Amino acid sequence: MDTLGKTLTYQAAIAWETNSPLSIEEVKVEPPKAEEVHIKMASSGICGSADHVLKGLLPLNFPLIPGHEGAEIVDSIGEGVSSVKPGDKVLTLVVPQRRECSSCLHPRGNFCEKQDILPSSGLILDGTSRFTCKGEKIYNSFHTSTFTKHTAMPEIAVAKIDDAAPLGKVCLISCEVPTGYRAAVHSARVTPGSTCVVFGLGGVGSAVVMGCKASGASRIIGVDINEEKFPRGRALRVTDCLNPRNLKKPVQQVVVEMTGFGVDFAFEAIGLVDTMIAAWDSCHLSYGVCLIVGLAPSNSQLSLDAVKVISGRTLKGAYPFCLADYKTRGCIPQLVTDYLQKKINVDPLVTHQLPFHQPHKAFELYHTGKTIRCVLLF
Ligand code: APR
Ligand code: ZN
Repeated sequence: MDTLGKTLTYQAAIAWETNSPLSIEEVKVEPPKAEEVHIKMASSGICGSADHVLKGLLPLNFPLIPGHEGAEIVDSIGEGVSSVKPGDKVLTLVVPQRRECSSCLHPRGNFCEKQDILPSSGLILDGTSRFTCKGEKIYNSFHTSTFTKHTAMPEIAVAKIDDAAPLGKVCLISCEVPTGYRAAVHSARVTPGSTCVVFGLGGVGSAVVMGCKASGASRIIGVDINEEKFPRGRALRVTDCLNPRNLKKPVQQVVVEMTGFGVDFAFEAIGLVDTMIAAWDSCHLSYGVCLIVGLAPSNSQLSLDAVKVISGRTLKGAYPFCLADYKTRGCIPQLVTDYLQKKINVDPLVTHQLPFHQPHKAFELYHTGKTIRCVLLF
């Protein structure tokens, strides 16, 4: 349907305030302005960051339409849009790529200054929102708001993907897979024969495990307090599973003892300060690399033993796919092509699919820890 120039009404899931159930509402969506696209949602993942947003752990404006891990079809385009056309399949990008700022132009930067995460205004590039409901302005999350049947978003926050991509699954390649898989392959550069520990075997941690395995790691230790995650972790080639609550010693001490001197690569995919410190302490003192992938609550501080910082270990951050030279609009479509060519397999990460109007059920499943990823279908 050509939506150009028209304000139309669609169903969307709105969070009116933090810690309140999502409600399905009729939302007015304004047409795309210049350099914006109007899109029809096909699927969206339920991601740990979306949960952080709903709990108020990140400072976003409410009421908002959450969700940022979407696969969709372009409906119409605003003036000046050249990278996509109506009918194209696209993925949403939490980190956009305008190709004009210091990060985009630097060979080792990808955290485009047009991102709306740190800090988040909840508005799109011209400082306005395209959504209203019951006469009230509704905010965006990270330019992307995917829990809506239709939306308008900046052209720089979508990437055109292969026409053959199955939209019910590839939404995970919008956020979870690049965040986790590429953190291992691209940012940590896990080496063949190496030892790894992954804190958190949820969606992102599972993608990290896949990246460690694809890079040839010989031992992958998975750490989680929910033992229901262990069988799926083992299927992805986690070699040892640890539940810190069942250990007599701190988990980092156990990891160091298991590996002799500490692991080559440690990943934190939970978003808690304590597990970030445990990941850091699990690394080999001299050449260990610690990747923080989890997003800690805003204003939390990470406190490290200063003496141990000088021994040579590396600490890096990689959320969400803030992976140095990993330019989102160019690299994410390649990951979809890799999936279609069977070079990576995201299918095991999609454990549940539900209709869009049941986000509460999807979050219920998420909170009980029964999913790796639940995907909403529109
Ligand atoms: N120790 C060990 N494991 C824990 C702990 C803990 N203290 N607390 C939670 N976990 C486990 C959960 O049981 C779950 O399996 O961490 C996992 C987190 O996974 P998900 O909830 O699926 O979240 P995910 O989408 O993977 O995101 C994880 O990465 O990108 C960031 O913002 C995101 O901070 C979030 C993190
Ligand atoms: Zn995400």
